Amino acid sequence: MDVPSELIQRLKSAGHVVVFTGAGVSAESGIPTFRDRQTGLWTNFDAQSLATPEAFERDPALVWGWYEWRRCRVLASEPNAAHRAIAALAGRVRRLTLITQNVDDLHERAGSPEVLHLHGRICQPYCSACGREHAVARPQLPEPDDERRLEPPRCVHCGGRIRPGVVWFGECLPRRPWEQAVEAARGCDAFLCIGTSSVVEPAAGLTRAAIVARAATIQVNIDATCLDELVTLNLRGPAATMLPRLVAEVWPEA
Ligand code: OAD
Repeated sequence: MDVPSELIQRLKSAGHVVVFTGAGVSAESGIPTFRDRQTGLWTNFDAQSLATPEAFERDPALVWGWYEWRRCRVLASEPNAAHRAIAALAGRVRRLTLITQNVDDLHERAGSPEVLHLHGRICQPYCSACGREHAVARPQLPEPDDERRLEPPRCVHCGGRIRPGVVWFGECLPRRPWEQAVEAARGCDAFLCIGTSSVVEPAAGLTRAAIVARAATIQVNIDATCLDELVTLNLRGPAATMLPRLVAEVWPEA
């Protein structure tokens, strides 16, 4: 692995490490990313018809059915070596903040003790009227050729429609995790940006905040991104290969 020895020393002495993940970290678990040219969700589906409050208002069964299909994929997948390396890292540095844009729960299932979910959680739907969480059963999906339409359940407290627990286009990020993420990005010594295209704001701004704060910034991605020229080091390759190598080299098991 091509990490200059000076940078290895800098990473080793980092007291506060931030790990910031995007869809690429879960790609090798079989969960599609958003902007892959062939398999990306936003390449194959129209975000405006599925991922906005207006879309849910207009056609709740279409939106709920699509998210239940995605929840099925999450439930059928397992954490990969990248999720596990990040979980192991938490026990090897003084302080680790894990921030994700992903709505899956693979970091938690890999053993990461605390995860700041900036874009919500697909397995935690809530009532669109009163905001209370809804206990989810295993997804019941219609037959695959049924367009995946499914009526959303009703809230047991107020009768409102249950909505997916994710942040949609046009909605604000959840306040507390966002504030914690900004504080961590501004105050950390090392920032690992893993598997994100860094095109969605405000989340993408976290890496820039870490760069401005002069943290050592490492980007892991199979492809080029708009941050390539700005970070301290680019590690080009799949997260499930690169992260275990990076963690083993810089923060080996005691
Ligand atoms: P994208 O689909 O925009 O980007 C995924 C990134 O992961 C790309 O840069 C890929 O090159 C990279 N990638 C793919 N496979 C990889 C692998 N095995 N190892 C390393 N890198 C890999 O996904 P995000 O950046 O996460 O928002 O997208 C950000 C937000 O846009 C999502 O959270 C979602 C979406 O709209 C909401 O749902 C609110």
